[in-house]
Amino acid sequence: MKIDVLTLFPNMFTNVLGESMLKIAQKKKKVKIRIHNLRDWTNDRHKTADDKPYGGGSGMVMKVEPICKALTDIARKKTRIILLTPKGKRFNQEMAKELSCEKHVVCIAGHYEGIDERVKGFVTDEVSIGDYILTGGEIPAMVIVDAITRLIPGVLGGEGSLNEESFEKGHLEYPQYTRPRVFQSVPVPEVLLSGDHKRIKNWRKKKAIKIKPACGQTGRR
Ligand code: ADE
Repeated sequence: MKIDVLTLFPNMFTNVLGESMLKIAQKKKKVKIRIHNLRDWTNDRHKTADDKPYGGGSGMVMKVEPICKALTDIARKKTRIILLTPKGKRFNQEMAKELSCEKHVVCIAGHYEGIDERVKGFVTDEVSIGDYILTGGEIPAMVIVDAITRLIPGVLGGEGSLNEESFEKGHLEYPQYTRPRVFQSVPVPEVLLSGDHKRIKNWRKKKAIKIKPACGQTGRR
């Protein structure tokens, strides 16, 4: 799978992509993630990617031309082109699963006070990671890249990791413990030391908390 990110702040991604599972997934060639600086698609001396809003008002607006040019170079007919915006559809696990089946995803990180509305004519999806306003779309893009990448077959080590996953079954994960057996007088539950797999399974099932459906929804998150 290929993921391209268009941003004015490419350095923000360096550490996130260079550590842990995202680093391994790229090394194993399960995913090819490329971060692009939108200023590379400007053609003035100052590499201007934003401008004052028509009609007045405070702040700057991201220009449509660099984004359009970048998409012309990077995207193909079937590419999913995602604009990160607080006005978008709320991102969830279902969306992550759907996107992880795509061959090519482009994320556009909006910034400053806004982005020229005409950019929306070039995107397939507008996505928000939650009902709060961040300073830009970079962190939301990282969230999406992470959530998608871990679902790509072969990325997660243990075979059981995804199958057992709580979200998929509408449960939250059961409590986990590792050594020491007793920490500050709090012991690991006896059942987990019993070696009785049937008992352990039942205990975990009981302990996994059911996810409450959000108001007016039907069990979906
Ligand atoms: N840009 C700023 N806030 C955002 C959010 N919550 N989701 C996606 N993009 C954003």
